[in-house]
Amino acid sequence: MRRIAVVPGSFDPVTLGHLDVIERAAGLFDELHVLVVHNPAKSALLPIAQRVSLLDQSIRDIGLQGNVIVSSWSMGLLVDYCREVGASVLVKGIRSQVDVAYETPMAIVNRNLAAVETIFMLPDPAHAHVSSSLVRQVAGLGGDISPYVPPAVAAYLQRSMV
Ligand code: PNS
Repeated sequence: MRRIAVVPGSFDPVTLGHLDVIERAAGLFDELHVLVVHNPAKSALLPIAQRVSLLDQSIRDIGLQGNVIVSSWSMGLLVDYCREVGASVLVKGIRSQVDVAYETPMAIVNRNLAAVETIFMLPDPAHAHVSSSLVRQVAGLGGDISPYVPPAVAAYLQRSMV
């Protein structure tokens, strides 16, 4: 049986912390879907298609391509996407207790909805302070975001913020 997992998120934009989790998870599953999902609770910087494109490029740039599929989902529940692609596991990166508190209710709801399990993965502590919202803020105010994001994202944001 193929082990298929999904790493869902807003990825607005993808950070080095996300990429670290994606790389670790890609080594654990036969097929890994990195899924961009609109989160209505957050005000977006990038259109979904641009987030997909930057993820795709960043994943290619670190030589991770074989079993990783980048996609987006706006057709309903996250577990509906899991059903569609035959995934039984969600992977979420956890930086701190704050993330555990945020992710736990979603993990329980997703398990109740469709028996999809969530695995919490610890990224490299070097990325513990990195978040997309921090990157959006620093980029919006003209700061250097290159320590926090893949080169493709830094180049795109530097071009589009001038
Ligand atoms: O990167 P984010 O913004 O923390 O990701 C949150 C996301 C998009 C994974 C979450 O909001 C989500 O799963 N949305 C899909 C809608 C859904 O299935 N909701 C019910 C179960 S939580």
